Parts: sequence; C-alpha cells; structure tokens
Amino acid sequence: MTERLIETRHLSKVYGSGETAVRALDDVNLTVERGELLAVMGPSGCGKSTLLNMLGALDQPSEGEVWVAGENLARLKDVDTFRARTVGFVFQLHNLLPTLNARENVEVPMVGHVASARERSRRAMHLLELVGLADRADHLPNQLSGGQRQRIAIARALANEPALILADEPTGSLDSQSGEEILALLARLNQSQGATVVIVTHDRRVAQATQRIVRMKDGRIVEDHRLTDPLEEDLRMLARSRLGQAILQGDDTRPLAGLTPEEVATLRRILRRVAGAGEAEAAPATLPLSVG
Ligand SMILES: Nc1ncnc2c1ncn2[C@@H]1O[C@H](COP(=O)(O)OP(=O)(O)O)[C@@H](O)[C@H]1O
Ligand SMILES: [Mg+2]
Repeated sequence: MTERLIETRHLSKVYGSGETAVRALDDVNLTVERGELLAVMGPSGCGKSTLLNMLGALDQPSEGEVWVAGENLARLKDVDTFRARTVGFVFQLHNLLPTLNARENVEVPMVGHVASARERSRRAMHLLELVGLADRADHLPNQLSGGQRQRIAIARALANEPALILADEPTGSLDSQSGEEILALLARLNQSQGATVVIVTHDRRVAQATQRIVRMKDGRIVEDHRLTDPLEEDLRMLARSRLGQAILQGDDTRPLAGLTPEEVATLRRILRRVAGAGEAEAAPATLPLSVG
C-alpha cells in the first residue's frame, strides 16, 4: 500500500505587492507518496526553491494548503518540532557550522530532540558511517572537500530520521564526480531508509536517476513524468532478446542450451511479468500473453 506523504492544494505564493508583486508559485497541485524519489526541474526563478521551502514549512503560502505526513502545515502547533523531526534539508551551500567538527555538525539537529549526549554521538557516528565519512568525524568543515561537506550535510539532514528529505540543488556547487556520488547517496538512502526524497536540480543526469520528474515553469507544474524502474527496463530488454523469446515462446530452444528446466521455468515466471506489463501498456485489455 502506498501512502500519501505530501499534498499541495492550489498552492500559490506571491512575494511583494502591487506593481512589484511576483507570483512565485501559481496553483501548484502536487502529491507525493511515501518512499518516492523525485526531481523538480525548471529554469532559474520558476519557483523550485519556493516550493521546497513551503514543503518544509520554512515559508507560508499566500493561498492554498500544504499537507505533509497528514498535517496541514498552516495549522502546525509547533513548527520547529515539525522541521526538526519530519524534514531534513540539504542546501546547495551546505552551511555547516565552521567551528564544529563533522560529528558535532551532525548532532546539531538532535539537540533538544535526543536527550542524551552519548546517544547523540552514537547516532552521529552511525550516520557518518552511512555517508562513508566515519574516519573524518573529528575534521572541521574547512578540512574537508566540497563533496565530503555535502555528505556531512546529508548525514545532518538525516539526524532525526525524517520522513522527508528536501534537497535544493545539492550537487550545484560540486564537480560532476562528487555530484554523482551525492546523488547516488541520496538514492541509496531513499532505498535503505525508505526516506522520501525531493531533489531540486538543473542536472539532467540527476533527474534521470530519480523515479519521477516534475517540471516547473513560471510558478506552475507543467509536466509530471514517472520513469519506469531501471531494473524493469532491463528485464523488458531481456524479454525481447533471443534468449528471452526462447524462454517465453519455447519454439526455438537453442538459446536455452545449458539451462535446466527449473531455471527456464524460473526465468519464464520473471519475464512473463515484465512482458505482460509491456504488452498491457502497448495494447490494453484483450491481447493474450504469448507464453509457452
Ligand atoms: N524572498 C523573496 N522576495 C521576493 N521575491 C522572491 C523571494 N524569493 C523568491 N522570489 C522570487 O520568486 C521567484 C521564484 O524564486 P525561486 O523559488 O527562488 O526560484 P528557483 O528556485 O526556481 O530559481 C523568482 O522570481 C524570485 O525572484
Ligand atoms: Mg532555487
């Protein structure tokens, strides 16, 4: 069962008033299920950061509503607790505190939420391990590379095990190699921790690594595109191959030499599912599955 984590309803944001008013968001309706990994793209100034700030209760809508984890953000009793517990932010400029070492930076959001200093330290070390920087726990931010600092910032965002990670151009200030590592890390956290991740990015490669791309223009969502699972895509290619056809159709068995009947049966079960899905998309309803 999927569960809705985010819902915006007719969300608009106007900055300023009169002649100089800027409609940064204009009737945005977006729903995100728990566990999704999605990219928000669009030209500079189209409202991406404004949207992210609204989702994280950093700013108030002019019109409409934002619901996150079942709460209407306009009615939150305690905004600070919501921000600390439900949301983890990763910004382009990581804004780590320069006088604190990596471990202490990761502990900052836990202060006031995790009572014991020892527990904070233990959790911070665990998170640093998760982002591959346990051996840099005692380093100050200026003793770390840009990519490492951003990984610390991600560990910090995870401090209170938030349901939602909001990343605003997290790879923007990094070289492409570090950028890819940050992205892979976010994708892994999405998988392993089940965190819902929303990434604002200009980078097409970043977006392609996500499951869904939302495109914005002039404060509006102009496209909302779900990508298929890469594994499913690969399996579909296998289903179309000579080997896949032999497994599914069974009339030319030459590609199957060396496979046991059990192996063929297992492969057939797997491929039937994706072949079925593919046909269902191409020609709905009545087309029979061509399986042997
Ligand atoms: N605090 C603000 N005051 C006035 N205008 C703002 C403010 N923040 C953003 N804007 C304007 O709102 C629009 C959307 O900005 P933003 O959400 O930052 O876009 P993006 O992140 O897509 O580049 C822009 O025209 C920007 O100039
Ligand atoms: Mg922005």
